[in-house]
This record gives sequence, C-alpha cells and structure tokens, in this order.
Amino acid sequence: MQQISVKLFLTAFAINVCLAGSLPIANEGESKEYCPSYLQDDTTIPCWILGSKCYCFSNNDAVDKVYNWTEANEICKAANMTLLSIETEQEDFLIYSQGETHPELVQYPYSYWTSGSYSQIGYKRWEWATNEPFQPFEYTNWIPGQPSDINPPNNQPGHCVHLSFYDDYTSGYWYPNSCSFESFQRFICESMN
Ligand SMILES: *[C@@H]1O[C@H](CO)[C@@H](O)[C@H](O)[C@H]1NC(C)=O
Ligand SMILES: *[C@@H]1O[C@H](CO)[C@@H](O)[C@H](O)[C@H]1NC(C)=O
Repeated sequence: MQQISVKLFLTAFAINVCLAGSLPIANEGESKEYCPSYLQDDTTIPCWILGSKCYCFSNNDAVDKVYNWTEANEICKAANMTLLSIETEQEDFLIYSQGETHPELVQYPYSYWTSGSYSQIGYKRWEWATNEPFQPFEYTNWIPGQPSDINPPNNQPGHCVHLSFYDDYTSGYWYPNSCSFESFQRFICESMN
C-alpha cells in the first residue's frame, strides 16, 4: 500500500511541474488555482505545484538580499502562504529532489528556511510554526548528530530549521540554526491549501 501511494504521488508531481523559460514558474494551467496571483508574473520566484500545493523557492540573488527566519516568515505570510512545513517523508522528498532537476536551486552556499522552530513559549520541542496552535514535529530528517544540547547548543529557543541541499541533496537533511542567521539564506513558502 505504501509503495502504491508513493508512486501515485510522484506521477501527480511529474504532471504538475510547470516550466516557463529557464525558470520553473507556476504560472500556467492548474498552477493558477494554488499559487498567489501576484507571484504568477514574478519571474524571480520559482514556484512549483507538488501534490495539490504551490511551493515557491525564494531566489533573491537578483536583489542581493538575505533573510533571517522572521523576515522569511513575514514574506510568506504577506503572500497568504506559510513557510514550508515538512510533515511527511513524501513531502520532504518532493522538495529536496528538486535539486536533481534544478541545480541552480541547490548551489553552495544557499540554504532555505522552513517553518521549523524551537518552541518560543516553553514547550521544549520543535514545531512547525505556521498557524497556531503550532504542531510538534512527528516525521524528522535531521542531519545526524543534530539538534544538539551542547555541540553546538541549538536544541533550544531561538533556533530554526533550514535545508542545505548542496551538502547532499539525496538526503534532504534538516539543520538547526540561529533564527537570526542571515548569510545566504533563502526560504521556501507553501500555499495553505
Ligand atoms: C491575502 O488574503 C486576503 C484575505 O483573503 C486578501 O485580502 C489579500 O489580498 C491576499 N493577499 C495577497 C497578496 O494575495
Ligand atoms: C530579523 O531581522 C529583522 C530586521 O532587521 C529584525 O527586526 C528581527 O528581529 C530579526 N529576527 C531575528 C530572529 O533575528
């Protein structure tokens, strides 16, 4: 059963990826149904339909801008989206497998913020900080050895999760980092429905 559902999901994915020019832009056909309208003319932000959702990878090279987690979170919200929450292995794979087909997205040194954040209100857990109440992580795909209480101490408030595909885009590992970190940070937004 598990194998069958994964296969169906991938088929849907293959059909729904939209390509426009050199950048994959979700601005055609059924993409319009899910992607925020103002993004559809913005060729600097590549979006995909994966499953039934629109996912937009920020691509801020052109404006020479980097974002900490708070800023990235606000940008997604302004688009009526949320930062990426990775609830299942299938969703994780759909995101990190983009590295194989879109090497421009995974080049060093770029990392992408997700909505993953250590609880700021004392729950002592990692959560997908999108719509309240925030949901604790169930599926995880941390880089081995992290998060850690000591080396470095990142298993605590003030830390957020990013993806660094360039290390190994066949694993999709998650990295805990300071939410204030800005260098080379991009982000991935996800539509709400
Ligand atoms: C977000 O949703 C609100 C409420 O539906 C709407 O007024 C606003 O125009 C939307 N913003 C964007 C950027 O689509
Ligand atoms: C992110 O940057 C903004 C603007 O400089 C700042 O107001 C905010 O406190 C920063 N957030 C974090 C978590 O560092």
